[in-house]
Amino acid sequence: MSKHKQILLTNVNQPDQHLIEHAIKRGAYERLQKALSLDPLKVIEEVKASQLRGRGGAGFPTGMKWGFVPRDSGKPVYLINNADESEPGTFKDRVLLERDPHLVIEGMLCAAWALQSEWSCIYVRGEYAFPYVRVQRAIEQAYEKGFLGDNVCGSGWKHHMVIHRGAGAYICGEETALLESLEGRKGQPRLKPPFPAVAGYYGCPTVINNVETLSNIPWIIDNGGEAYAAIGVENSTGTKLVSASGHLNTPGVFEVEMGYPLLEFIEQECGGVRDGNALMGVIPGGSSVNVLTAEECEGVRLDYDSLKNAGSSLGCAGFMVMDETTDPIEAVLSLSRFYSHESCGQCTPCREGAHWIEKIFARIARGEGQPGDLELIENLCDQIGGHTICAFGDTMILPYRSFVRKFRQQFRERITQVLKGGESTRNPIDFEIGMH
Ligand SMILES: Cc1cc2nc3c(=O)[nH]c(=O)nc-3n(C[C@H](O)[C@H](O)[C@H](O)COP(=O)(O)O)c2cc1C
Repeated sequence: MSKHKQILLTNVNQPDQHLIEHAIKRGAYERLQKALSLDPLKVIEEVKASQLRGRGGAGFPTGMKWGFVPRDSGKPVYLINNADESEPGTFKDRVLLERDPHLVIEGMLCAAWALQSEWSCIYVRGEYAFPYVRVQRAIEQAYEKGFLGDNVCGSGWKHHMVIHRGAGAYICGEETALLESLEGRKGQPRLKPPFPAVAGYYGCPTVINNVETLSNIPWIIDNGGEAYAAIGVENSTGTKLVSASGHLNTPGVFEVEMGYPLLEFIEQECGGVRDGNALMGVIPGGSSVNVLTAEECEGVRLDYDSLKNAGSSLGCAGFMVMDETTDPIEAVLSLSRFYSHESCGQCTPCREGAHWIEKIFARIARGEGQPGDLELIENLCDQIGGHTICAFGDTMILPYRSFVRKFRQQFRERITQVLKGGESTRNPIDFEIGMH
């Protein structure tokens, strides 16, 4: 298996790749011309044959999603590229947006042709100021060259594209919150069904895909769906961008073939754990998945099934490595700060639970934990999971539960140390009701 197969990062290290003349010299927009020569349904067939799964986290089959779009509703079909990328530990889309924006635009145009969509939008994370500028300029250049506009490449097909900058809310990466935000309202998720493919942007059929997902489409058009399906492993075809951070000697964004061994990835691609330290654990998917201990990483591969079987998830492959010097209590406290800040507040269990859990983690970390705190956290997680409109609550509790379960000894020691020392001056009633 080749870890060096390149589909997405081929040109990102060319310093002039963001400029359309240079991108064209390296083949940009040739795949669009090929797509335009194909029946739109044929393009969908190729994407289905590729078995490409969405790279935004849920891994939903892309061709199947496109197939759900009604083609005779009489309503416009919209395509939205989800570039909100706000999950802690995830920074892979940023590389494509900044360094190969024409690949992103070409992927969107191929998808739009397949869906017979005449309007698309890139919803970019508010803090991504530089990627925003790069993509904005790239869209202008694509208009100047006739790849966008009323007559794309002289084909008679019309397609217009805009970029919209979010205001810095993680929840706006959730596809229906994104739609609310794009329609000018507060970014809070909608109930599903209906799913966006049927009733999305202003009630019209809308496909929402991740930046990385869409950037795979030109290669699939060029080489065929079967060739793509031949890369990687069963149920996880193609390559995967991994944003690797934490206690690594050479963190960064890497493209690996699906199925690449996790520990080999740390050693070969990321230069190993920093300072020769031992590995404590990995959060492999971006923060909203179960943490894996070092022992659990043995024999695991970077693909959907392997990580699922190991009890975690590939997610969007925001790979966070913690060495033996890490305090797991501080680590999960840091995540809980993020989630309590980012909960949109619409559902009571998520809004209240996120803050409450953060406070419990904080008091344990401060040395003010109480007996029953771990059980209280677990109880709160039970009350959040499955009781909210969107997956924010369901996935936020994964790191909480798994840190508490897998590093229970450290949590217990921190709580007991304090009890023995008798240092806490806190009112126990506050702990009972979980407030302070
Ligand atoms: C809280 C939350 C945040 C999300 N953030 C993102 C994001 O930043 N980018 C993204 O592509 N998908 C994100 N998703 C997933 C999207 O809802 C959606 O599944 C995805 O954009 C679909 O694209 P794909 O099929 O290409 O993966 C998020 C989901 C949730 C629940």
